[in-house]
Amino acid sequence: MSGGSRTPVGVPRRSGVAAPRHLSADTRARALEVIALYPQPRSAMIPLCHLAQEEDGWLTPEAMADIAGLLDVTPAEVLGTASFYDMLHTEPVGTHVVSVCTNVACLLNGAAELLEHAESSLGVNAGGTTADGSITLEESECLADCDRAPCVQVNHRFVGAQTPVSFDRLVADLRAGARTQDIPGHGTLVRVRRTTGLQADPVTVAGERAAMAEAQAGRAAAAEAAKTASDGVGGQPS
Ligand code: FES
Repeated sequence: MSGGSRTPVGVPRRSGVAAPRHLSADTRARALEVIALYPQPRSAMIPLCHLAQEEDGWLTPEAMADIAGLLDVTPAEVLGTASFYDMLHTEPVGTHVVSVCTNVACLLNGAAELLEHAESSLGVNAGGTTADGSITLEESECLADCDRAPCVQVNHRFVGAQTPVSFDRLVADLRAGARTQDIPGHGTLVRVRRTTGLQADPVTVAGERAAMAEAQAGRAAAAEAAKTASDGVGGQPS
């Protein structure tokens, strides 16, 4: 996780004040590559949130301000999107986010008892982070691995059905760094950089951006004309 001073979310965009950059040069370069894939830069908001989360393990206010600058939106808009999705964390989390599913299939197979044991052995309630910063415990809805109940994920990787005994062993392994091969620190969705796949033609993207801007301007002009006409009708003497 990163430290340092915090830039409050909600700083108005285009304020004329250059905010200090938080994201690394590498992350910014990758972000620009992603933005180039979309007709509208703001469409890249969620991928950029994941990039930033990969850097810090969670979405810091400074990172959200950087993303806002890259997308020409407000930091509050980034926060509004990020706070909607479970996989994006706008508060600090541990190196490992351990999710215990307590939906029906898992509940019938001991999930409540497992979660109770996890809270007791870790010394935190669901939603909390251990004092050493290594584990954040989460209670989850169905994780789509119902045939291996009670289902547990670590940093969105399935680790199979767990018992209280195997859960403690799993936590010990995580803390000892014995699972780094299959479970990277929180925030890393993939460890392989894409070198092929979706490629957007810059000319096509530029054309689509121009067409969307023109359409938006047309809608704004039509709305303004309708308002003017309405005001004119309303202002007629009876
Ligand atoms: S009910 Fe737990 S994974 Fe589906």
